[in-house]
Amino acid sequence: MNGKLFIIGVGPGDSGLITVKAAQVLRDIKYVFIPVSKQGRDSIAYKIAQHHIGSRAEICQLTFPMLKDKIALHTYYRENQRHIERVLRRGDDAALLTLGDPSTYSTAWYILQVMRQAAPEVDVEIIPGISSYVYGAARAACNLAEGNEVLSVVSTYDSLERIEAVIDASDTVVFLKTYRERQRLLELLRTKGLFDQCIYIKRCGLHSEEIIRDMQQLPDEPEYLSMIILKKNIQPV
Ligand SMILES: C[S@@+](CC[C@H](N)C(=O)[O-])C[C@H]1O[C@@H](n2cnc3c(N)ncnc32)[C@H](O)[C@@H]1O
Repeated sequence: MNGKLFIIGVGPGDSGLITVKAAQVLRDIKYVFIPVSKQGRDSIAYKIAQHHIGSRAEICQLTFPMLKDKIALHTYYRENQRHIERVLRRGDDAALLTLGDPSTYSTAWYILQVMRQAAPEVDVEIIPGISSYVYGAARAACNLAEGNEVLSVVSTYDSLERIEAVIDASDTVVFLKTYRERQRLLELLRTKGLFDQCIYIKRCGLHSEEIIRDMQQLPDEPEYLSMIILKKNIQPV
């Protein structure tokens, strides 16, 4: 009989924010797959989950390079999916870790899609995690939505036209993946007069966490693990 694949969201950074269910699975699992952008690179998802993983588990890195070429990327997804499938076919269970929650901008989701196509009979269970923006909102004591308010979560890599349309249609907007296009986003927010309604959150739950409410004070260096929350009716804390 095939083993089962658990896709596990390990939360945003603090290892205490992993679910009890995830910790139970990780304690007994034989194989743990961790996504990295390059072989040998550190994985934040692994660091978060490390204390919960049983000492006999085999840790396998899966490379997901940051490529724009979709065909080349698919080759990596397929190779990684095959690697996991080989383990499952031996009858062993395996866990695939992902930062935050698997349903939000996660590489694990691509693996799930490829697995569903290549080996639809494989049993997969998704264990959710606390998404970075949920924890970011908690750290900043920012209420994301109440009453009929509209909450949107966007990738800052999206087109400026779409981002502007989302801003206009929402009460609260969470901008994730703020790394590469941060400047472009900041200019849009400034032009729309929304700077005072933004909170910048860097590395929440991790070493050197920072929460900045005055957007004029943002560090010059963009940070991969950062987000901006725009809340139009922001209340002073
Ligand atoms: C590829 S997405 C993964 C999102 C993840 N699946 C989640 O549910 O939070 C990576 C982006 O999530 C955000 N992020 C993840 N962890 C974070 C953290 N600890 N602090 C701030 N932002 C974080 C950043 O915007 C980062 O660029």
